[in-house]
Amino acid sequence: MSDLQPPEEAKHLRARLQQWGHEYYVLDRPSVPDSEYDLAFRRLQQLEATHAELREENSPTQRVGGEPLASFVSVEHKVPMLSLDNAFDGDEMAAFLKRVCDRLDQQSIPELVAEPKLDGVAVSLMYEKGELARAATRGDGSRGEDITKNVRTIGTVPLKLQGKSHPELFEVRGEIYMSRQGFEDFNEQARLRGEKTFVNPRNAAAGSLRQLDSKITAARPLVFCCYSAGLQPEVNWPDTHWDVLQLFLSWGLPISAHAERLNSLEACDAYYDRVAELRDTLPFDIDGIVFKVNDFAAQQSLGFVARAPRWAIARKFPAQEAITKLTGIEFQVGRTGAITPVARLEPVFVGGVTVSNATLHNMDEVARLELRMQDSVVIRRAGDVIPQVVSVILERRDQNAEHVQAPADCPVCHSPVERSSGEATLRCTGGLVCPAQVKGAVRHFASRRALDIDGLGEKIIEQLVNEGLVRSVADLYSLTVEQLLPLERMGAKSAGNLIAAIDASRQTTLAKFLYGLGIREVGEATAESLAKEFGDIHTLSEASEERLTEVGDVGPIVAEHLRRFFTAEVNQALVRSLLDAGISWPAVAHLAAEGPLQGQTWVVTGRLDSLSRDQAEERIRALGAKTAKSVSKKTSTILAGPGAGSKLKKAQDLAIPVIDETEFHTMMSELEGE
Ligand code: IVH
Repeated sequence: MSDLQPPEEAKHLRARLQQWGHEYYVLDRPSVPDSEYDLAFRRLQQLEATHAELREENSPTQRVGGEPLASFVSVEHKVPMLSLDNAFDGDEMAAFLKRVCDRLDQQSIPELVAEPKLDGVAVSLMYEKGELARAATRGDGSRGEDITKNVRTIGTVPLKLQGKSHPELFEVRGEIYMSRQGFEDFNEQARLRGEKTFVNPRNAAAGSLRQLDSKITAARPLVFCCYSAGLQPEVNWPDTHWDVLQLFLSWGLPISAHAERLNSLEACDAYYDRVAELRDTLPFDIDGIVFKVNDFAAQQSLGFVARAPRWAIARKFPAQEAITKLTGIEFQVGRTGAITPVARLEPVFVGGVTVSNATLHNMDEVARLELRMQDSVVIRRAGDVIPQVVSVILERRDQNAEHVQAPADCPVCHSPVERSSGEATLRCTGGLVCPAQVKGAVRHFASRRALDIDGLGEKIIEQLVNEGLVRSVADLYSLTVEQLLPLERMGAKSAGNLIAAIDASRQTTLAKFLYGLGIREVGEATAESLAKEFGDIHTLSEASEERLTEVGDVGPIVAEHLRRFFTAEVNQALVRSLLDAGISWPAVAHLAAEGPLQGQTWVVTGRLDSLSRDQAEERIRALGAKTAKSVSKKTSTILAGPGAGSKLKKAQDLAIPVIDETEFHTMMSELEGE
């Protein structure tokens, strides 16, 4: 309880929550633990519940959503919200710049600002006396819908601006989008619940904003980024677009971290190429680059044509979605027996590559899509994500299109197929009898990050298993040159090389060996932790589930998979034959990575923008530290990105140092230089 009177206390709490929210969402630099925030938040909720007169529309408590609306109200955009002209290649970009120079009657290219073109939903935000007063969709450009309640729930939208220098009334325009991860997570959850999924992050953002119940919007991971003012003549804006962006930033409005000022066609092309390279690694979808003339006076003299300004252009990236035809469905059996339906497609160029296959996840997904043979489908390929079939174009369906049937038997070994309760995945029960599972196991065992057998490629594995020369990975070690020679495209030299490579793989590390065994859910990092913790395979194979969960990386599910693997007789025999075949590794103690971080344990959590969590962990381990998935008293440091939750909180409770992505890069660069 506080000594303050309720009105003062509410005011005080709001100021703190607003500051903390800004640090968390916009600066990506939380200054207090979540628990502290939650406590203040709940206290404010309580005050507002008991003192109706203290309620405020822009109170941080409104971020969780409020009473549902009956319908959206239509609102007018005083300054119309326009669209942009597109340039599809370098020539069209050059032509745009030439038009700009000609119209301005100047030789040299005026300064431009380049920003990624965010693939989300355009919105207009009105701020009155420094507070969010209205948020609206673009609609037809002249009239949109009032979505204020929904927009209030978005953490990156300031409900109150920082500082005092903002105009009485002004309009900010920007994009609301959903991160790729947020979209994938949402769809995965929806798939598990058997509910409708979204086609892409843009539709997900649009669908989330179109909710009459703002509590639903509040639960969706939406992000806001602003890209312009709705320029009103009565406001005394700076002279350039760039300066307006900086001003926005100083008021707490998020702008693109990639915005740059450029002065030539070459610089524009280089920027485009650079961001195109980055595109797959960005955490959100972008569909091009927007180039804008920086100077407002120049913008004004260039003016508009139809519904687009002459002072800006969107240079588009290759589309990430395309329409093609389903030519068949293949059921692929993975190394764990999981059967995945894969769509065979008429080849189509999408996301910069030609795609002829796309994953369908599982039969539930096939049912959800209502997919039938020969359907016209929309394919999406974004980032490193495997191409997906996102929807079926029902209007183009042939009347007699056949349904897709799930296989009752394994398409490879004809063992019965099972579907465990609660699992959407079909599995072949054939185990090592199933050539597809054996091939998958050999492929994994020989892969670079496992036993690294050079020259043991797909085609050879096919033949070795089909010919019955390899029934399990242990058989690799008794292969002879004579056995290899009859295989297709196998000369004496390559046969000799392959045998030598298999031989060389006998010298490995315990971690690589463990990873190579292909135990479910045991990836490289887990294998590494297990190797370090147990030091030898015998102690590990006998460890109880309880003992296994003491390892940083291992949760109850992984522990169960490990136990199940090591108690199965076939696997015990497999490990024995591999050891008998001479596989060995140096004692693990000698392998403990040396480096400036030796002896430390790090935890990486939250969203990182410039690298994946795996990459961050790899970088940390390369400096000698261990990485773990959970925080404990033994944790030395935690690298936390935005969205970090319970791990960050625990670290803060235990007073463990927390660093952000920027500090991480600085620290790593310094240590790597040592
Ligand atoms: S500037 C006069 N900047 O692209 C129009 N637009 O095709 C000024 N968009 O409706 C728009 N990122 O929703 C601008 N950095 C960016 C953008 C951007 C995405 C969207 C915006 C607009 C559409 C136009």
